[in-house]
Amino acid sequence: MTQSPRTALITGASSGFGQVYARKLAALGTKLILTARREEPMQALAAELKVPVRILAADLATDHGIAAVAHVIRETDTLDLLINNAGFGTKKRFWEADYSQQEAMHRVHIMATLQLTRAALEGMVARKRGAVINVSSVAGFIQSQGSISYCATKTWMNSFTEGLAMELHGAGSPVQVQALCPGYTHTGFHAAAGVDKSLIPGWMWLDAEYVVEKSLQGLQNNQVFVIPDWKYKAAAALMRHLPLSIRRRLGRPGGDRRT
Ligand SMILES: NC(=O)c1ccc[n+]([C@@H]2O[C@H](COP(=O)([O-])OP(=O)(O)OC[C@H]3O[C@@H](n4cnc5c(N)ncnc54)[C@H](OP(=O)(O)O)[C@@H]3O)[C@@H](O)[C@H]2O)c1
Repeated sequence: MTQSPRTALITGASSGFGQVYARKLAALGTKLILTARREEPMQALAAELKVPVRILAADLATDHGIAAVAHVIRETDTLDLLINNAGFGTKKRFWEADYSQQEAMHRVHIMATLQLTRAALEGMVARKRGAVINVSSVAGFIQSQGSISYCATKTWMNSFTEGLAMELHGAGSPVQVQALCPGYTHTGFHAAAGVDKSLIPGWMWLDAEYVVEKSLQGLQNNQVFVIPDWKYKAAAALMRHLPLSIRRRLGRPGGDRRT
């Protein structure tokens, strides 16, 4: 994508990466549609930005919430960028964790991404412009005890994005898709999941500004997978090639680690 997007819709815009994307895109003059469950932080953000901002309170773990956002996507014919960013982590083994949270995670990471991407691509492909960023995770390249739904849903996001990139390329469409795969980054994510950040060594942490900058640069270079920082790039490349027996050992619970 070489031109600044005319309008961008960002999910998970009440915190973390979503707010950083909003600030950076507003600086390019992009109009914004922000969505999340909590309206107040989005209102506060909108008040500081110098572009038109529409706020849409929606719970993407519900059919109703997804349908409301999909409707806005379909009616916005200047939409050049969709950022499927909303997401959360949980702790505990699958059979011990609150089941409703596990299901909600699948809905937010998979069903919302699926339906919102479909709604956006119908218009973007026809208009021959636009991009979709799916905020995935390096966790999509691994499995980790105590976090298996998170890893599985992020693996789906990576695979879905790669498949879409193939189809768009095969169809000769200029529309781009990107899977952003960050490692541990300072946002509201770990507090929301009840994870003690002090258990994760300082050198593993990334800054949200840096991660979002890499994602937006990735759009300039038409990169399908953006893995910010060399150490996470190296880890992701290694994990793809390790035999299952070693991956199993590495996926043992490591305290409160989640990305
Ligand atoms: N931070 C990291 O270390 C890290 C690393 C890799 C990937 N990621 C990914 O980055 C994305 C953004 O997370 P973040 O790090 O910026 O964390 P964050 O600060 O906790 O932001 C998460 C956002 O998702 C929204 N959200 C959660 N559940 C939702 C629901 N049911 N419906 C609608 N919105 C919902 C939250 O808004 P409301 O609560 O207001 O609804 C919030 O705006 C996530 O997909 C996460 O998996 C994070």
